[in-house]
Amino acid sequence: PETGCLSIIVLGASGDLAKKKTFPALFHLYCQGFLPPDEVHIFGYARTKISDDDLRNRIRGYLVNDRSASPSEEVSKFLQLIKYVSGSYDGAEGFQLLDKEITKLEISKSSQEGSSRRLFYLALPPSVYPSVCRMIRKYCMNKSDLGGWTRIVVEKPFGKDLDSAEQLSSQIGELFDEPQIYRIDHYLGKELVQNLLVLRFANRFFLPLWNRDNIDNVQIVFREDFGTEGRGGYFDEYGIIRDIIQNHLLQVLCLVAMEKPVSLKPEHIRDEKVKVLQSVLPIKDEEVVLGQYEGYRDDPTVPNHSNTPTFATVILRIHNERWEGVPFILKAGKALNSRKAEIRVQFKDVPGDIFKCQKQGRNEFVIRLQPSEAMYMKLTVKQPGLEMSTVQSELDLSYRQRYQGVTIPEAYERLILDTIRGDQQHFVRRDELKAAWEIFTPLLHRIDNGEMKPIPYRTGSRGPAEADELSAKAGYVQTHGYIWIPPTL
Ligand code: BG6
Repeated sequence: PETGCLSIIVLGASGDLAKKKTFPALFHLYCQGFLPPDEVHIFGYARTKISDDDLRNRIRGYLVNDRSASPSEEVSKFLQLIKYVSGSYDGAEGFQLLDKEITKLEISKSSQEGSSRRLFYLALPPSVYPSVCRMIRKYCMNKSDLGGWTRIVVEKPFGKDLDSAEQLSSQIGELFDEPQIYRIDHYLGKELVQNLLVLRFANRFFLPLWNRDNIDNVQIVFREDFGTEGRGGYFDEYGIIRDIIQNHLLQVLCLVAMEKPVSLKPEHIRDEKVKVLQSVLPIKDEEVVLGQYEGYRDDPTVPNHSNTPTFATVILRIHNERWEGVPFILKAGKALNSRKAEIRVQFKDVPGDIFKCQKQGRNEFVIRLQPSEAMYMKLTVKQPGLEMSTVQSELDLSYRQRYQGVTIPEAYERLILDTIRGDQQHFVRRDELKAAWEIFTPLLHRIDNGEMKPIPYRTGSRGPAEADELSAKAGYVQTHGYIWIPPTL
C-alpha cells in the first residue's frame, strides 16, 4: 500500500451527509487502523466561520464506536486529526487557504515518497460541484514534485435527467479524468450487494439456473417504514425513482443480470454492467404504478399539489439472450409497513408437477440486503411426520448466526477505503450513469409534466394495491401462509 501524507478534505463539513455518514465512516476506518495518525490529516471545509473545536463538537455526537473498549478516548484522538477551514464554494481565497494548510503538512513530511495524496469528498449539493471542482483543479491539486494523486468523491443526485446529468458529467470531466472521479452509490458498498458477484460466478449451482429457462421473474425491493421527514424539500424535487430506483436498485439489477466479466478488474466489471443497462427496453406506461402516501403534502416544505411519487413499481425488461421475457420488478416506497431491501428471484413451476395440488409456492432465492442480512432458498420438502404431505421450507444462510462476532462494515466505510486505495470497482462510471438516465428519463419527464399521477396510499400500508396487481400480472406468485423468520441466536 501507498504511504506518505494523505489529506482527506470533507467539503460541506457541517452538512447532514458529512455528519451522519462521512465522518462516522472515517472514524470507523481510523479505529481499525486504516488512517494512521502520522500520515493522515482530515480537513473540514464549509462556508460558516467556526473554529476547529466548533466543528469537532458538531460531529462528536455522531461518532459512536460500539466496536471498541474505550470509545471516548478514540473519539477524542480522532477529532484531533480534524482541522477546519472556512471559505466559499466559488472563490479563490478559501481554496488557496485550504491548499496552504494541506501543503504545510505535506512539506513537513516530504521525506517520504508519494506524500501528496489528496482526497476531496464533496458532501455538497450538486449545484456547486462544477465550481468546487474548478477551484480544486486550480488551487488544490497534489504537488507533483511530492508525487501522489488527487481524487474527488461525489454522490447523487447526479442531475435530474439525461441532459442535466450529461451536462454535469462534462463539466466535471473537463477538469478531472475518469480515474480521478469516484461516484458513490452506497448500495454498492453493502455486504450482500458485494457478494452478488461471488455468489453468481463462484458457484456451479447457479450457473445453469440463472436464465430465462428457469427464472420466472426477479423482484428488487426497497421499503422504508418512515416518510421523508425533514427532507421533504429535497425529496419533492426528485421523487422515489430518482432517489432510489434509478441508482440503488438499478445497480443491484446490473449485478443480478450481467454476464460474467472477463476478469475481476474494475473496468471489466463495469463494462458488463453498462451492457445490461444498454439492453433495457423502453419502460411501458402500463408497467408502472406510482404512489404517494397520505400526509406527504402536510410537510411544510412540500408543495400542496405535489405530484411527486413516494412509491413506485416499475418493470424493466432486458432484451438479450439470457433474460428475454423475464420481468425485473423494481419496487421502492417510503412510509410503508416495513423496512427492508431484498432481491427475490422466483423460479418457474416444476413441469409435469405431481405435487402440484398440495404445494404452497414456487422455489425462490432471496437475498436480504438489510436488515438481518441473509440468503435463503425457499423450497418444498416433505412435512416431517407420518403423512406424505409437503411444506414450504428454506435453506437459510443468515449472517448474524453464521458469522457470529463478525462486524459487517458500513457501506460508506468500505467505499471510502476504496477511494483511498484507488479501486473503482464499486463506483459508477460515466457511461454507466448515462445509460441509467437513458432508461428512466422519458418516464420521469412524463411524471414531471403531470401526465402520470401517483395513487394515494395509507402510511404504514403495503403501498397501492395496484402495485401488487401489476407484479401478479407480470408473473409473480405470492406464497401464502409462509413467512421467513430470521433465526435468533
Ligand atoms: C439514500 C436515499 O440514498 O438512501 C434515502 O436518498 C434513503 O432516501 C437511503 O433513505 C436508504 O439507504 P439505506 O442504506 O438506509 O438503505
